[in-house]
Amino acid sequence: PAPVYLDCDTGIDDSLALAYLLAAPEVELVGIGTVSGNVTAAQGARNTLDLLALAGRSGIPVAVGAHDPLAGRYGGAVPHIHGRNGVGDVELPASGVDQIGEDAAEFLVRLAKEHDGALRVVAVGPLTNLARALELEPALPGLVSEVTIMGGAALVPGNVSAVAEANIANDPEAAAVVFAAPWDLTLVPLDVTLENTLEEEHRRVLLASADPFLTGLGRILDVYFDFYVDLYGRRSSALHDPLAAAIAAGGITPTIAPRVPVVIDATDGPGRGQTLCDLRGQRRGSVDRPGARCRVVLATDAPLAPHLLDRLLA
Ligand code: BDR
Ligand code: CA
Repeated sequence: PAPVYLDCDTGIDDSLALAYLLAAPEVELVGIGTVSGNVTAAQGARNTLDLLALAGRSGIPVAVGAHDPLAGRYGGAVPHIHGRNGVGDVELPASGVDQIGEDAAEFLVRLAKEHDGALRVVAVGPLTNLARALELEPALPGLVSEVTIMGGAALVPGNVSAVAEANIANDPEAAAVVFAAPWDLTLVPLDVTLENTLEEEHRRVLLASADPFLTGLGRILDVYFDFYVDLYGRRSSALHDPLAAAIAAGGITPTIAPRVPVVIDATDGPGRGQTLCDLRGQRRGSVDRPGARCRVVLATDAPLAPHLLDRLLA
């Protein structure tokens, strides 16, 4: 299996991405770094360690990363979306396991070197740790095999401003650095993640499981399902982060995903945090633009929810 580093802000859908990567036979999760976003980097690490323990996978090292974005200060948690603690206000049993002493950016650089170009990076939070890792080791793009990012909005509105998606909006300066670096990126934007939902029938399957990790996931989803009532008109949830995880692992395949120039707006105007994807001329399918290194996923071969459940229940 291919080694994977997960960078996350755990987070309810981050928890599902984690669960997917633990279950996917194509990959081996070798390390996790956290960043402030849905909750602080420290709380995200706590949640991640508790979830790993519940899954019986405490051996996977977790490193705390950046508390603040590259410029300015962390803007605070989003209790109405992910609960006050990031896991839907569910008290997960405390793992008793600590994070490693290394910072997440240093940890990522070390793992990239140890895995000899084979490491897949999956980033489902703000991109601060990836930007800092590039600063620490400018050769990093040549040391990893690929980078998959949940973030941005290509042709649809943003979710924190008219144009900006949360992961990019929480640190546009970092995103600008990451998208300008010479590595192959796969961007999994709101365009596809909002099309993939988990429904009450799926949540009930998780809740009915005998596995405490899966029932835990079912329980933490309750708050998230409330949040999405306004958007979908029913209790349901978007599958942002697990879709990026499934694409990175190869369980879900992009069908429309042109390689196009992507530029991040890091100015202070109303466009701040926008992912400007140059999708001109894409009417008849995917047309790669010469020299472009970022695949923007606009459609996939299968809906994620049934595949995710198959994997989790296997
Ligand atoms: C992204 O923002 C976070 O709240 C979610 O975990 C996901 O990574 C969606 O915009
Ligand atoms: Ca996230």
